[in-house]
Amino acid sequence: MTAGRFPDGFLWGTATAAYQIEGAVHEDGRGLSIWDTFSHTPGKTFEGHTGDLACDHYRRWPEDVRLMQELGTPAYRFSIAWPRVFPKGAGVVNERGLAFYDRLVDALLEAKITPFVTLYHWDLPQALQDQGGWAERATAEAFAAYADVVARRLGDRVRYWITHNEPWVVAYLGHYQGVHAPGIQDLATAVRVSHHLLLSHGLATQAIRAASRQAQVGITLNLSPVMPASEEELDRQAAQRFDGLLNRWFLDPVFGRGYPSDVRELLASYYEPPEQDVPVIAQPLDFLGVNYYAPAFVRGVRLEEQPLGIQALTPAELQERGYELTDMGWPVVPEGLEQLLLRLSREYGPPALYITENGAAYPDERVDGEVRDERRIAYLAAHFAAAHRAIAAGVPLRGYFVWSLLDNFEWAYGYSKRFGIVYVDYATLARLPKASYYWYREVITANALPERE
Ligand code: FCB
Repeated sequence: MTAGRFPDGFLWGTATAAYQIEGAVHEDGRGLSIWDTFSHTPGKTFEGHTGDLACDHYRRWPEDVRLMQELGTPAYRFSIAWPRVFPKGAGVVNERGLAFYDRLVDALLEAKITPFVTLYHWDLPQALQDQGGWAERATAEAFAAYADVVARRLGDRVRYWITHNEPWVVAYLGHYQGVHAPGIQDLATAVRVSHHLLLSHGLATQAIRAASRQAQVGITLNLSPVMPASEEELDRQAAQRFDGLLNRWFLDPVFGRGYPSDVRELLASYYEPPEQDVPVIAQPLDFLGVNYYAPAFVRGVRLEEQPLGIQALTPAELQERGYELTDMGWPVVPEGLEQLLLRLSREYGPPALYITENGAAYPDERVDGEVRDERRIAYLAAHFAAAHRAIAAGVPLRGYFVWSLLDNFEWAYGYSKRFGIVYVDYATLARLPKASYYWYREVITANALPERE
């Protein structure tokens, strides 16, 4: 690899998720998901925004594929909506739902874009939630049955499969903080859910491999280096605990080491995962997907204040410490990505790594028919450079997916946060490539970072 260049065949891409872009929530027999229910519950999302229409990708997908083709990305990561395939979560397959993804995959291949399919990006069929959702073991079994059907249908053309997207977020934001669907606030439920998600990853991995011999299977985790607020013992211990909860609780069992004992102890009074499931979770991975946005900064607090004794620093505190923030209030720390990749490679030895999401929200505006998102370009350039340093140090990073192709429904923030390299005018649904799109196209063409002006 020469200076500034990425390895030949490096898979540049963009990423999206079904509920964030598709809309068409009642089309072609789709069932309801927990995000339909949650977003339609007053007070749960920014100004009551929902994914009912979103980017209308379900109808406009040919235009979106064209945008990717013109961008020149060799890969695209998208997710399949479980409730399109099984409107009731299990039982009868909805052919029209499957057919949509069939057409999409064919169009991508036609455009020479390699599909990376995520099976679960948070849109659990509501019918399964009504039976207890991820708190129930039966949901893990239903997930494996769904994975089997999709892999049989698409497995002749789709090679790369991602079982789950960010199980930590599903467990904790969905079942402890309650700021994501299904909006439950109970720590014991969150821990139980995290185990069933991991179990379902193992079961689905087996199902995908049984259905398609060429399958390359991985899982996408949201991982962050955890920084203590100070060198004080209390803060350092909190950072250690949070590293356990966020990173090691997922990495260790997936890489065959079982759950980390310190975190098991910390959570024992809430839920203890059954030992017999541990080998199921440990299916050999073909790759690990990493979503990285920022490090986590935490301080230690008394257990009366917070059950795990952990408190995140606020955006205002981070700013006081000199960090630049994105529109999400997340600090811009590209070295965090390098540090994370080096650690993963050293401590877990994954056969391959992909950055399955990285990007930034900024309050973009269209001025004279253009969106000049210079801060997003700077964010991406700095993170690409960090990834490049990691590769040069020997990390087996094989690809990089920018979040996101389009501005879209940013969960509880609705349409108020723009992550796209393509601007979406929500009044007309017109797409307008931003400056970052054209910049990214240059990176892809050169397979290198452009020279600094
Ligand atoms: C990740 C999600 C993705 C998107 C980005 C900003 O946690 O996987 O859907 O919302 O954050």
